[in-house]
Amino acid sequence: MSSPTSESVIVCSQSGPLSGKVTVPGAKNSVLKLMAATLLADGVYELRNVPDITDVDYMTDLLVALGLDIERIDRHCLRIVNSGRISPVAPFALADRIRASVNVLGPLIGRFGDVHLALPGGDDFGGRPIDMHLSGLEAMGAQFDITEDGLVGRSTGRLKGADITFAFPSVGATENILMAAVVADGVTTISNAAREPEIGDLCAMLRSMGAHIDGVGTSTLVIRGVSPASMQSCVHEVVSDRVQAATFIAAVAMCGGDIDVLRAVPGHMEMLLTRYADMGMSILPIEDGLRVSCHQRLSSIDVATLPYPGIATDYKPLLVAMLATADGTGIVTENLYPGRFRYIEELQKLGADISVDGHHAVVRGREHLVGATVVAPDIRAGAALVVAGLAAQGMTEIHDVHHIDRGYDNLVGRLASLGGSINRID
Ligand code: EPU
Repeated sequence: MSSPTSESVIVCSQSGPLSGKVTVPGAKNSVLKLMAATLLADGVYELRNVPDITDVDYMTDLLVALGLDIERIDRHCLRIVNSGRISPVAPFALADRIRASVNVLGPLIGRFGDVHLALPGGDDFGGRPIDMHLSGLEAMGAQFDITEDGLVGRSTGRLKGADITFAFPSVGATENILMAAVVADGVTTISNAAREPEIGDLCAMLRSMGAHIDGVGTSTLVIRGVSPASMQSCVHEVVSDRVQAATFIAAVAMCGGDIDVLRAVPGHMEMLLTRYADMGMSILPIEDGLRVSCHQRLSSIDVATLPYPGIATDYKPLLVAMLATADGTGIVTENLYPGRFRYIEELQKLGADISVDGHHAVVRGREHLVGATVVAPDIRAGAALVVAGLAAQGMTEIHDVHHIDRGYDNLVGRLASLGGSINRID
């Protein structure tokens, strides 16, 4: 069982109906890869709509250690200078802090034929192997050794284009092969590629840098490699964060109310919006986002996580929290990570009636949750506990807020602006 550590605490009490407008920040799972992509070409980059989250700070530390110069021009804009003086050795202490550190693998081996990286850290959902990253790069001519200090990769000369078929549409492996392939010699085809909107965003930035990529948004990406010297820097705006958008919608689902979620992109979350509607919510597209209303108790549904365009595993803690107060019983099936039910015991502290059997959770809806002290075990589960705390009777304290800070830009301020009774005590 998790126990609180001494640091910031989020305190919330029963809220609703919520009202007003909230703007969705840029996506964590895009910006970290866009930052890694700047290793590919010298020049001055500007990334806009960057979320103010600690994972961006961690990625900044890692990339600075590799030789980039990174400055926050303002809270949401990064200026990155690649002056070509890159050392392809990622220090363990920095790489170990985030999963996305693995995203420097593709650009470094692709451009410099050399990489030395600690095996990546990140949320602990059970085993998170990188075999598909390595076998894809090996098919292009790279060689890897796993040593005591981590992963050492090299290639003699430029990587060669190859036909790569994934057994599973891995997000990280697709991104790494993509970033290596844009500067490889010849054509690379990635079959069964992941097609998350964040991969589309990465492709858009790589194209602005001079890459040739066809099939963007489909599960077959065809990349015609260009000479590294012909790639250039660019200005790019980070795509909106669909998981943060889903979080605000979940807050209305649980507390009731009417809000506008600005900069939410309905086309990036179609399946989720359909399931939210099945639970009884009204969600309508408006000019710059979504209008969301909920005025009745939700109805339970069964739901299973799948790679995009299916229901993302990152939405799942929100859905479990919503089902905890819905009318009826819902079964939630996790198909991506073996260990991603660790927050259930925290929701149980709020009175949720949930039992877990293998990769299924059976959620029996209760009329009310009751406030308690809980611990955020990871980013998305932490946000789900915050949303559940806003709906629970009495007061809820959420500890280990540092997990939430990794991926949420001012979650407390944004929920408070919608009328949520929520504070952060630092
Ligand atoms: N997998 C393998 N071998 C590989 C690669 C993946 O077995 O070589 C397995 C993983 O172990 C896992 C599954 O495939 O069980 C999914 O892995 P994937 O590579 O698709 O995910 P990822 O790139 O490690 C990203 C996000 C996660 C998100 C997943 C799935 C980032 C930094 N992380 O992880 O986001 O859950 O895609 O959509 O982009 C989060 O934001 O909270 C988060 C965990």
